[in-house]
Amino acid sequence: MNRQFPIEQLRKLPTPFYYYDLALLRKTLSAITNEVAKYANFEVHYAIKANANPKVLSVICESGLGADCVSGGVVRASLEAGFPSDKIVYAGVGKDDWEINLGLDNDILCFNVESLAELEVINELAALKNKVANVAFRINPNVGAHTHANITTGLAENKFGISMEDMIPIINKTSSMSNVKFIGLHFHIGSQILEMDDFVALCHRVNELQDLLDEHQIYVENINVGGGLGISYEAPDSESIPDFEDYFATYAKHLKLRPYQTLHFELGRAVVGQCGSLISKVLYVKQGHNKQFAILDAGMTDLIRPALYQAYHQIDNITSDEAIEVYDVVGPICESSDVFGKDVRLNKAKRGDLFAIRSAGAYGEIMASGYNCRALPKGYTSDELA
Ligand code: LLP
Repeated sequence: MNRQFPIEQLRKLPTPFYYYDLALLRKTLSAITNEVAKYANFEVHYAIKANANPKVLSVICESGLGADCVSGGVVRASLEAGFPSDKIVYAGVGKDDWEINLGLDNDILCFNVESLAELEVINELAALKNKVANVAFRINPNVGAHTHANITTGLAENKFGISMEDMIPIINKTSSMSNVKFIGLHFHIGSQILEMDDFVALCHRVNELQDLLDEHQIYVENINVGGGLGISYEAPDSESIPDFEDYFATYAKHLKLRPYQTLHFELGRAVVGQCGSLISKVLYVKQGHNKQFAILDAGMTDLIRPALYQAYHQIDNITSDEAIEVYDVVGPICESSDVFGKDVRLNKAKRGDLFAIRSAGAYGEIMASGYNCRALPKGYTSDELA
């Protein structure tokens, strides 16, 4: 049993749903803003792709963070939540014309451009509006990260960004275009990264590229190192806030920022991961051969991470104090991969118990699908239930 959940209030809501602990979210945001305040020229944008629940977004927006967007829909969500347009950056390998136009109409801070073809389209669309779009180039740094293969993005084989060899030609090309202005370089090596050495490797690569740019008298105002800081899925209670001090200090120490430069970060999971849990009801306890199954009303349609990345999420039976038993915790979807955890030690479960699947604030609700004609899960916050 985990006593931090408001069980009585949760019991009244139709399951499954996401529950967001906004007190933890606010503490996490203060930890970030306090660390960032130590450095004159660091700016953090929240990567909205991790969680775009409007109630969560409004708390993040209040903290003063900017927004990192990956589609027109996300740009719209960021504007609706109140993020100022001059704090919005927009990356993505395949931006459609309407998405670029939305960014142009709202004068966003920067398009993180991923190909020459895209740069040309932004230039044309900006010309039609008599505007000049700020662009940064997303460079593929060919730096691997110690994380799941599906969420590493900075290797040469990945579809993202522009190769290092093409960096100077594309920057030079920009100077002959009237409706785009080159303002920065962008990088992102992957997600759920816990080894600071991976970020150190990125810093070294950025330093090398900056030295090369100096030789060509190319000066860059903004360096954006993306996101990727991981969270502790193993210990959501004792390690509920990531080590932001170490993270920002790593960049301060290893990245040779020029005095006129701003260093941007795009953190998603580290901001929202620990504040969210998927709350689900036990439908049945089924005795199998040599094992028992706790069958939940939540499935991979509500939280796809275990099925897609073999991700571990701690599971708590928040309504039982009985002795520990071992269960395979599964969902109701017609797929063998619809499993939240195997051999999970839990307080003895019975029909109607509530389980909390922890550390589900990032890439949980936002990745839910309607597979099996299921309804999308709702999200409730601690503020609403108080
Ligand atoms: N910036 C860019 C360009 C990104 O592609 C991402 C995430 C971020 C920032 C934020 O990364 P974070 O700080 O959250 O690691 N669905 C996967 C994660 C995909 C991450 C995609 N890009 C998962 O559930 O683990």
